[in-house]
Amino acid sequence: MEERPEAEVGVGPWEGPWPEGAHWDPELLRDGDRRNVVDRYRYWSMEAVVADLDTRRHPFHVAIENWGHDFNIGSVVRTANAMGAAAFHVVGRRRWNRRGAMVTDRYQHEHHHADAAGLTAWAATAGPDGGRLPLVGIDNLPGSVPLETHDLPRACVLVLGQEGPGLTPAMQEACDVVLHIAQFGSTRSVNAGAAAAVAMHAWVRRHVFDQHP
Ligand SMILES: C[S@@+](CC[C@H](N)C(=O)[O-])C[C@H]1O[C@@H](n2cnc3c(N)ncnc32)[C@H](O)[C@@H]1O
Repeated sequence: MEERPEAEVGVGPWEGPWPEGAHWDPELLRDGDRRNVVDRYRYWSMEAVVADLDTRRHPFHVAIENWGHDFNIGSVVRTANAMGAAAFHVVGRRRWNRRGAMVTDRYQHEHHHADAAGLTAWAATAGPDGGRLPLVGIDNLPGSVPLETHDLPRACVLVLGQEGPGLTPAMQEACDVVLHIAQFGSTRSVNAGAAAAVAMHAWVRRHVFDQHP
């Protein structure tokens, strides 16, 4: 079989006179920018990208419980970055496998909470004007209601459980509501990373594109 040359990602060194402005990163201008960033941020320093994102992040947060070693967290964080989440929260063990995040975690605000009570305490004053942010559980548990017909709050925390056990009883108790994603096959569940993406996109459809359920 014919060998294909490996496609180079990103852009090479800046050609021509260097642009002026504090957001440009001299090393990237000199060496090229091979990061997984949208074209708008080519050659920008990481600090400048974070500062720019901070001006237009959405008011939803994403939290995921981390009691074992959940390889889905990286994927959740990457999607949280793409969908413009305000921040991501890891509840339980502080350490998580960053590989799947593909460096997107460095552009996001990260919070850690020891347990459901910690997330609840944080959310109590994290809403608009210092009010409470509702916790919206995402899991297909008895008593959960369909995500597809539920009007997601604008400012909220979408809370995912982890592979295996799903949302802990303490987290279920802490949530204002638990929403399930409709399924039509034989599997009990989708993976937590996929569920997180569906839930975040439902928020985007509702609050960015005004598509009411
Ligand atoms: C593998 S599931 C675990 C448990 C699941 N409740 C069960 O009965 O098997 C892991 C996580 O993915 C998310 N998830 C998976 N399928 C889902 C669905 N259909 N609706 C909502 N969340 C789902 C939830 O956050 C859940 O805690």
